[in-house]
Amino acid sequence: MKALFIGGTGQISTACARRALACGIEVTLLNRGRTSQRPIPDGARVLHADVRHADAVRAALGSEAFDVVANFVAFTPEHVETDLELFAGRVGQYVFISSASAYQTPPLRLPITESTPLRNPIWPYSQAKIACEDRLVRAYREDGFPVTIVRPSHTYDRTHAPYDPGWTLIERMRHGRPVVVHGDGTSLWTLTHADDFAKAFVGLVGNPQAIGDSFHITSDESLTWNQIHEILAAAAGTEARIVHVPTETILRHDVEWGRSLLGDKAHSMVFDNTKVRRLVPDYVATIPFARGAREIVDWHDADPARREVDPRVDELIDRLVDAHAPVAG
Ligand SMILES: NC(=O)c1ccc[n+]([C@@H]2O[C@H](COP(=O)([O-])OP(=O)(O)OC[C@H]3O[C@@H](n4cnc5c(N)ncnc54)[C@H](OP(=O)(O)O)[C@@H]3O)[C@@H](O)[C@H]2O)c1
Repeated sequence: MKALFIGGTGQISTACARRALACGIEVTLLNRGRTSQRPIPDGARVLHADVRHADAVRAALGSEAFDVVANFVAFTPEHVETDLELFAGRVGQYVFISSASAYQTPPLRLPITESTPLRNPIWPYSQAKIACEDRLVRAYREDGFPVTIVRPSHTYDRTHAPYDPGWTLIERMRHGRPVVVHGDGTSLWTLTHADDFAKAFVGLVGNPQAIGDSFHITSDESLTWNQIHEILAAAAGTEARIVHVPTETILRHDVEWGRSLLGDKAHSMVFDNTKVRRLVPDYVATIPFARGAREIVDWHDADPARREVDPRVDELIDRLVDAHAPVAG
């Protein structure tokens, strides 16, 4: 089987490429050659082109056909339209990487299944992913375009601390400084290690039963945001001094962070993975966040250049903490 992964050196796509190669799939990656945090998986062929320039992609691919094309960097209906022009009639399966944040937000009932409606009135990122899905479903219905939609939820690898302020929070915790957690920190969240995601993803690649359908892929571990911070702190050999701040307040101070909370992370999200397991019966996520957190800390500790503190985020957290820290006595 020949697969083209558009992206392929990213947080999720590297693990998918590695897994696909290990399963005997011939993998070509197409990217700009700029992302260098992760090694190119052994055995992958790499083509360079900016996917935002259709002519450059055409030139890079020539007349080559692929059994599967998976695009990890399509975010708008225009991106998807370009892919329809590029790949209709010359691909056996086109995998669109959507997002579980496209599901009804806040959800009216849990767990989330693939039947949960798609509606996110808050986050433009998710609204655009829904528009992409709509376009691709139409292409499938009207023209038989062989799409499979895959919705990752929050999926991490060792290169990122999985919350908006990133590594800055861990540096704060290590210096005994307080960190901000939205709300009261008890909403449930699902974090999935990219290596776990890749196991189910590769099970869908080239699977004829996945055509025309959509799937999310997550772990089965649900953690509160308080626990996520405590687990990361423990992995970093320290403790989390948590100050709870209303999500609306965070939104007032930082629109991007606030939207990614109100449009996604501030709501409990628990997923039922029955559907993907029907097609990939041996899929089980085996990496608990306690282990993933140690990988994140070890990777950052291996090189001081990776332990970057964002001064803007640091100052923002100071401001939020000053306004909300409980008054002693
Ligand atoms: N991680 C999550 O929690 C999460 C959750 C839901 C959905 N998703 C979805 O997952 C996808 C992200 O996948 P990822 O984590 O593997 O990506 P990523 O970490 O954002 O990496 C981006 C990849 O795409 C390449 N790329 C970026 N811009 C490009 C361009 N203009 N032309 C060609 N290649 C380009 C990058 O390589 P170069 O820089 O070298 O070009 C790199 O290989 C997105 O669609 C996102 O919406 C992620």
